[in-house]
Amino acid sequence: MKFNENYLKLKESYLFSDIARRVNAFAAAHPDKKVLRMGIGDVTLPLAPAVVEAMQKAVAEMGDKATFRGYGPEQGYDFLREAVRADYARRGVTLAADEIFVSDGAKSDVGNILDLFDVSNAVLIPDPVYPVYVDTNVMAGRRVLFADATRENGFLPMPDEKVEADIIYLCSPNNPTGAAYSVEQLRRWVEYANARGAVILYDAAYERFVAEQGLARSIFEVEGAKTCAIEFCSLSKTAGFTGTRCGYTVVPHALKRGGISCNKLWLRRQTTKFNGVAYIVQRGAEAVFTPAGQAQIEANLAVYRRNAQRLSACLDDLGIFYTGGKNSPYIWMQCPGGMDSWKFFDYLLEEANVVGTPGSGFGKNGEGFFRLTAFASEEATEEAAGRIRKLLGR
Ligand code: MLT
Repeated sequence: MKFNENYLKLKESYLFSDIARRVNAFAAAHPDKKVLRMGIGDVTLPLAPAVVEAMQKAVAEMGDKATFRGYGPEQGYDFLREAVRADYARRGVTLAADEIFVSDGAKSDVGNILDLFDVSNAVLIPDPVYPVYVDTNVMAGRRVLFADATRENGFLPMPDEKVEADIIYLCSPNNPTGAAYSVEQLRRWVEYANARGAVILYDAAYERFVAEQGLARSIFEVEGAKTCAIEFCSLSKTAGFTGTRCGYTVVPHALKRGGISCNKLWLRRQTTKFNGVAYIVQRGAEAVFTPAGQAQIEANLAVYRRNAQRLSACLDDLGIFYTGGKNSPYIWMQCPGGMDSWKFFDYLLEEANVVGTPGSGFGKNGEGFFRLTAFASEEATEEAAGRIRKLLGR
């Protein structure tokens, strides 16, 4: 017996577990201190009333012999796939319901999708970016190439004809930098991928935060994307489902290589390895797409957007360079005084009792940067901004 030794190439623990451990140790050592957590991007506002009501109704159905349901379709109930399809249609993107696969969130699918691809493929991953892309490819033993996202290119790397990538990850609005691609910029990636026969894995978990005109919410806003892209969406950040778990992945029928349909492979994979999302959760997710659900989640998102403005205003006052906040719940700031990311993490935790995420945890280009999230409560965000102002303004 041999373990998969690729795991030994990973850092010992996942970024956010590492941070949680350090913060818990600090909190245990300083029980008198009120620690403000702006580290992991976890939402704090409750589920929308329309979602709660739909779930309660579904619970009652499950407790009644006449309406009880056992195993559901692995790829999601028709009612939810149809609601997602209609949501895309309202945004001008035409999909078939069976191109939509309901999942327990984007994180799982972003990793699981790799089952479909040969280990010999070269993978292109922006740096910095959500660490799951790199870690899951390292686990599989795949060769990883990096596309530099820097202050110079606005943290939005563009395709380089000289780079021979087979699988390309794009995350827009980006975690952690908050930078978001325009439809025109994505068009260049789509052209590059179609020309090479590569596949784009497009993480749209933060699409709902896009506020500026001309920026894409879906890669399928670009013509030609259906022959080269898979899109991952999540209700975690948009509708407060981080603990409830529900997302969806779009695998177009037109995405084929060597005559093989990616949609068919994914269906085969999911029906074999996944038993679907709970009926109760899917009913809650369906309610997100109703007019009442949409209005209610927008009210919550408005709170997070205001939080992002509070943090941005604080950094503006301090004259600290940052990106994000406008089309994203993340603020990506330069560490003050030339501190490295972990040094600033410790400084902020110890001196202001505020937790953020060290930029270096997202890749080498993240060194010297730091991520704050807008998902805390309004009160905590206001207090954190005040503490940061006080600490860094002196
Ligand atoms: C983050 O903080 O980057 C996210 O919450 C992680 C995730 O969505 O898994």
